[in-house]
Amino acid sequence: MSFRLQPTPPARPNRCQLFGPGSRPAIFEKMAASAADVINLDLEDSVAPSDKDSARENIIKATHEIDWGNKFLSVRINGLDSPYWYRDVVDLLEQASDRLDQIMIPKVGNAADIYAVDALVSAIETAKGRSKPVAFEVIIESAAGIAHVEEIAAASPRLQAMSLGAADFAASMGMQTTGIGGTQANYYMLHEGQQHWSDPWHWAQAAIVAACRTHGVLPVDGPFGDFSDDDGFRAQARRSATLGMVGKWAIHPKQVAISNEVFTPSEEAVSEAREILAAMETAKANGEGATVYKGRLVDIASIKQAEVIVKQSEMIAGH
Ligand code: COA
Ligand code: MG
Repeated sequence: MSFRLQPTPPARPNRCQLFGPGSRPAIFEKMAASAADVINLDLEDSVAPSDKDSARENIIKATHEIDWGNKFLSVRINGLDSPYWYRDVVDLLEQASDRLDQIMIPKVGNAADIYAVDALVSAIETAKGRSKPVAFEVIIESAAGIAHVEEIAAASPRLQAMSLGAADFAASMGMQTTGIGGTQANYYMLHEGQQHWSDPWHWAQAAIVAACRTHGVLPVDGPFGDFSDDDGFRAQARRSATLGMVGKWAIHPKQVAISNEVFTPSEEAVSEAREILAAMETAKANGEGATVYKGRLVDIASIKQAEVIVKQSEMIAGH
């Protein structure tokens, strides 16, 4: 560990972020009744240009009228390359209720993008006397976003979470894909005539996790487009959890339960982690820094690994 301690991210569950278009208010109540930790009402790419104004009105009304329970309520605004984003911010911050927890900024390319939104949000919050500061989440979904991922993670104390947006990311990178996340048929290694598929999203995910962990931000995996493919979703979510991400988006309600299952440490994982901690307590009492657990080495680093699982489990259970 460097002299600077790694900051802890916000202690709230973020296992699943359920999205729904702001232009489809009929599903808002269903979203509120879902088991997702985070709700993302969308003003961006699931809303047609002709519906932007009415979608804004729907969402503002929903912050006043719908009981969102203990959900973290986030609204995805339009990108800074569009003519819509300033109106999204102004109307939301002037008219939404205090139930609004967060705004999501898509397609961020550098820290200055966050700075611009932060300046506007801060001015409106002060002018309107809003007592609850709105949090930010961002989507890394461009070549510039991933190239500047660390400065983005450090850009504002409002920033709580960062997601990988696979589809826009693939397009910006010029990747030869059309699927939203998951296995890509042409991304394989050949060994003795057999194809073995690799994960083309891996390095971007790892870069996001590193930037987030450095700056106390929650790393999140974005959408998996084929909502008919539960096994594919589960496999993608498991890879993300293994790499250190805390949750994943759901673009259809059937993905929520799978995401919650994968990003909640299993009972087996938690009891094994507790056993490792107990084994290390015994080792410590005997003046040893390392010991053997189920035939394998565990040492002081194993305590930190086990604590990640136990703390995550306790945080989710206590929420
Ligand atoms: N949240 C909550 N409920 C939803 C929902 C959502 N995002 N999407 C669909 N539902 C509801 C439907 O209303 C339906 O309810 P019912 O059983 O009471 O009639 C049920 O879930 C089954 O829906 P289904 O018919 O399978 O889907 P659909 O054709 O209505 O909608 C999508 C499919 C993909 C268009 C829709 O899920 C959607 O808009 N997803 C979010 C897209 C988005 O926000 N994208 C931006 C981020 S990438
Ligand atoms: Mg996108």
